Amino acid sequence: MTEPRLYWEERARRYLAEGAGLRAVCSYGMPGFYNGYIHLTQRLALAPWLRVSPGTRVLDAGCGVGRWSLHLAASGARVTGIDLARPMVEEARRRAERRGLAHHCRFLVADLAHLDLGERFDRILVVTVLQHIVDPERFRAAIGTLAAHVAPDGDLVVLEAAPSRPDVRCDSATFRAREVEEYRAAFADAGLSCITESGVDPVPLKTRLLPFYARLPRLVALAALSAVTALSLPVDALAGRRLARASWHKVLVFRRPRGPM
Ligand SMILES: C[S@@+](CC[C@H](N)C(=O)[O-])C[C@H]1O[C@@H](n2cnc3c(N)ncnc32)[C@H](O)[C@@H]1O
Repeated sequence: MTEPRLYWEERARRYLAEGAGLRAVCSYGMPGFYNGYIHLTQRLALAPWLRVSPGTRVLDAGCGVGRWSLHLAASGARVTGIDLARPMVEEARRRAERRGLAHHCRFLVADLAHLDLGERFDRILVVTVLQHIVDPERFRAAIGTLAAHVAPDGDLVVLEAAPSRPDVRCDSATFRAREVEEYRAAFADAGLSCITESGVDPVPLKTRLLPFYARLPRLVALAALSAVTALSLPVDALAGRRLARASWHKVLVFRRPRGPM
């Protein structure tokens, strides 16, 4: 099995300083236009959860180069970003400094499977992190630490590959598309219930192309990727949130029920 920390450090070193760093944190090394599309669909899907009042305590778990941390910090949230890969954390700090947001954020190197920050958060964001924790025990441990960091009445917002039916086409040594029910059950075991579920990318074309993409001749691959992006973007962007069942990625929001557990 690929050692996760080394894999993420390598991804970070290759691509983190390029533009918005999307090739490091979205689709690894894929062309800019495709990562722009991924970023847009994720941003639209997360929009309701990216609005916070000043002072909200936010944990961005698996923060990468700080895509969401910086957005939330700019709204006045007090953000803690943690990430397994030191180069990601260092880049997130640099980006916060450059945008004059350093006083609203702190970034720490930490493994979600062993996280204990000694505090709880009003909002926790986990965006395309759990899908990369392939080992079942580390996955369970990460769910437990996330649940333990949610404040009473806090929200845990998870955007992950979570198809409605089993789909192993894109699984690899560093990626697992767990069914949405597996996420619900794992968080229920950790004491959280799902309060909303919405979609991200209901058009099924990219998951058909991606398993073959690297094996196609370069020009054919680029032409196919351009066609898939052009066909998917309008539907994903305009209707993605409403089409949860058809979506490959989903946004699931969890909360701890009130009263005795
Ligand atoms: C696909 S990137 C997404 C980054 C960020 N959430 C975003 O949306 O821009 C996944 C991130 O999760 C981090 N990561 C993976 N496994 C982790 C773990 N066990 N603990 C903490 N971070 C982890 C990686 O280093 C990487 O930065």
